[in-house]
Amino acid sequence: MRVAIASDHGGINIREEIKSLMDEMGIQYEDFGCDCETSVDYPDYALPVAEKVANGEFDRGILICGTGIGMSISANKVKGIRCALVHDVYSAKLTRQHNDSNMIAMGERVIGPGLAREIAGTWLATEFEGGRHANRIGKIAQYENK
Ligand code: RB5
Repeated sequence: MRVAIASDHGGINIREEIKSLMDEMGIQYEDFGCDCETSVDYPDYALPVAEKVANGEFDRGILICGTGIGMSISANKVKGIRCALVHDVYSAKLTRQHNDSNMIAMGERVIGPGLAREIAGTWLATEFEGGRHANRIGKIAQYENK
């Protein structure tokens, strides 16, 4: 699995935490910034990462900002992206099993690094269940393609 990860200035610490988790899990990733602590605009990071996941360059994407909201709204504008805003482990598991989410967004002003690590670890390790859930995702894709 190849993962693209990025954050704005509000998500730098969790981004580093998730990178160290992926090192431990032996997951390949590429970090797409941001490189500074001064204020940047989250769409400038969310949209390129979402495009890389949508075009198959990466299998999954992880985005962090202050709340995770701006990142998730932006990523979900890209066709083929199912980005879940997740701040608990149960949702991290279910959004893989039921929604086949290919991206998650988290907020560093909402949760701490320990919980973020558990969320990302669960999300990275959980498989899509398919079946009736595939039909539902198909309906989203159908809407996107009309
Ligand atoms: C930046 O101040 C903040 O708006 C951003 O990190 C994020 O929370 C937006 O949704």
